[in-house]
Amino acid sequence: MLTGKKVVLRPVDIEKDFERCLGWINDRDVIHYLGKQLKPVIKEKERELLRKIATNESSVVFAIETREGTHIGLTGLHDINHFDGTAVTGTLIGDKKYWGRGYGTDAKMLLLWYAFTVLNLRRINSRVIEFNKRSLNCQLKCGYKVEGVMKKEVYKNGSYYDLVCLAVFRRGWMKRWRQYMKKSD
Ligand SMILES: CC(C)(COP(=O)(O)OP(=O)(O)OC[C@H]1O[C@@H](n2cnc3c(N)ncnc32)[C@H](O)[C@@H]1OP(=O)(O)O)[C@@H](O)C(=O)NCCC(=O)NCCS
Repeated sequence: MLTGKKVVLRPVDIEKDFERCLGWINDRDVIHYLGKQLKPVIKEKERELLRKIATNESSVVFAIETREGTHIGLTGLHDINHFDGTAVTGTLIGDKKYWGRGYGTDAKMLLLWYAFTVLNLRRINSRVIEFNKRSLNCQLKCGYKVEGVMKKEVYKNGSYYDLVCLAVFRRGWMKRWRQYMKKSD
C-alpha cells in the first residue's frame, strides 16, 4: 500500500472491485476521455481483461482509494521495459464526483514515486486526447512535459482528434516530489 496526501494505492481485488470498475467503463462520460470506443460491454470478457491486466508481468495496477477508504479509481504502469527503464501510465478516476479535486494528481505522483524509486524506471510516457484538459493539466502538474502530437490519431463520434504525447524523467523529479509532499493544501 502506498499512502499519499489524499489517496491510498492498494492492490486490485478482482472479486471486490470488479462490479465498480464495470460501472466506470460503462459510463459514457468516462469513456469519452479514454482510447476506448462506446460498445456493449460483456461482463465476463471485461472481468477476464481486468484479470489479465492486473496479473500481466509487464503491468502494475493499483486501486485508488481515498484516505477514508472509498474506492474511486484505478492507476497503473503498462508496457514496463526494464531494459530501457520505461513504462506507460494510465489513470482513471471512475467516480466523477472526485474529478478536479486533486485525487488524480496525488495518485499519479504516488505512482511515479513507485515507478522511479521501487521499479528503478527512468522515463514514464503518457498519451492524452487533445480535449482532455483535466488530464493534461494533471500530468503537467506531476512533471510530465509535452514531447509531441500525433495528428488526428483518434476517432471519436464523427471526428478525428490529436493525441498529445507526454513524458516525465526521473532526473529532477525527486525534487518535485519532495516539494509536493511538503506543500499543505
Ligand atoms: C484525468 C484524471 C485522472 C485527473 O484526475 P483529477 O483528480 O480529476 O485531476 P486533478 O484535480 O488532480 O487535476 C486536474 C487539474 O486540471 C484542472 N481542471 C479540472 N477540470 C478542468 C477542465 N474542465 N478544463 C481544464 N482544466 C481542468 C484542475 O483545476 C486541476 O489543475 P489545478 O490543480 O492546477 O487547478 C481524472 O479526471 C479522470 O480519471 N478522468 C476520466 C478518465 C481520464 O481522463 N483518464 C485519463 C486518460 S489520459
